[in-house]
Amino acid sequence: MADLIRLSTATPFARGGNRLVYVHPDRPEVCIKLPRADVNLAVKRRRKGLKGRLKPAATFDENRAEARTLTELHGRIGDSLAAFVPRFLGWVETDLGRGVVLELIRDDDGAIATPLKQYVWERGFDERLEAALREFTAYWVRERVPSRELLLHNVVARRTGDGAVRLVVIDGLGNADLLPLSRWSRRLARRKSARKAARLRKRIEDLVRTRAQGGDPGEHGFLRVTD
Ligand SMILES: Nc1ncnc2c1ncn2[C@@H]1O[C@H](COP(=O)(O)OP(=O)(O)OP(=O)(O)O)[C@@H](O)[C@H]1O
Ligand SMILES: [Mg+2]
Repeated sequence: MADLIRLSTATPFARGGNRLVYVHPDRPEVCIKLPRADVNLAVKRRRKGLKGRLKPAATFDENRAEARTLTELHGRIGDSLAAFVPRFLGWVETDLGRGVVLELIRDDDGAIATPLKQYVWERGFDERLEAALREFTAYWVRERVPSRELLLHNVVARRTGDGAVRLVVIDGLGNADLLPLSRWSRRLARRKSARKAARLRKRIEDLVRTRAQGGDPGEHGFLRVTD
């Protein structure tokens, strides 16, 4: 059996609502995600409201669901998807439990890619982001990539060597509906992807407005883990 990977003494580089994200100690190009020990099933059920209370426990295993969705999507769409969605690379045992291993999105200079929320908060809706969003939207609609809402903390802005930005969706992929009609209709699927991309644009614009009005961006979506 492979040695247990030690993460108990490492610091996660990010924390989502449900998971902690670490750089793999021996492989800088991949990350390991673990469920947050402080977020248990009861909390998750409550967060999802009435609908969540009716769902089976397995629905809340983000890691398993993510592995399945990513494998299916990369298989269906092929190599081009890797520019917009990280690959699922397997599982590891760590001293904090089982973790999912995923491609870690980095800028071309090696820095971990900035969450889109942080990018917008720090730089606004600049021309590079406009170009990246246009490229992303065209791809998303063309390939009919299924996703839940595209939230600003679930997309990262990767900086490439030529100074451009590319958007990569790191969480929230797949279908939330039990029987999505878009599975059978290309036209509906395309429309759905277009709607998700349009709402992503709106979220960017809303955050710019919140910032201009001196509002609070909330705790998620910034690469600073404070405790
Ligand atoms: N593959 C990746 N490459 C680079 N950064 C990543 C990657 N996966 C996650 N991150 C960073 O870690 C943060 C949290 O990750 P993730 O969204 O997977 O956690 P979560 O707890 O499932 O999120 P949520 O709050 O949406 O439930 C992201 O906002 C992003 O900044
Ligand atoms: Mg997330």
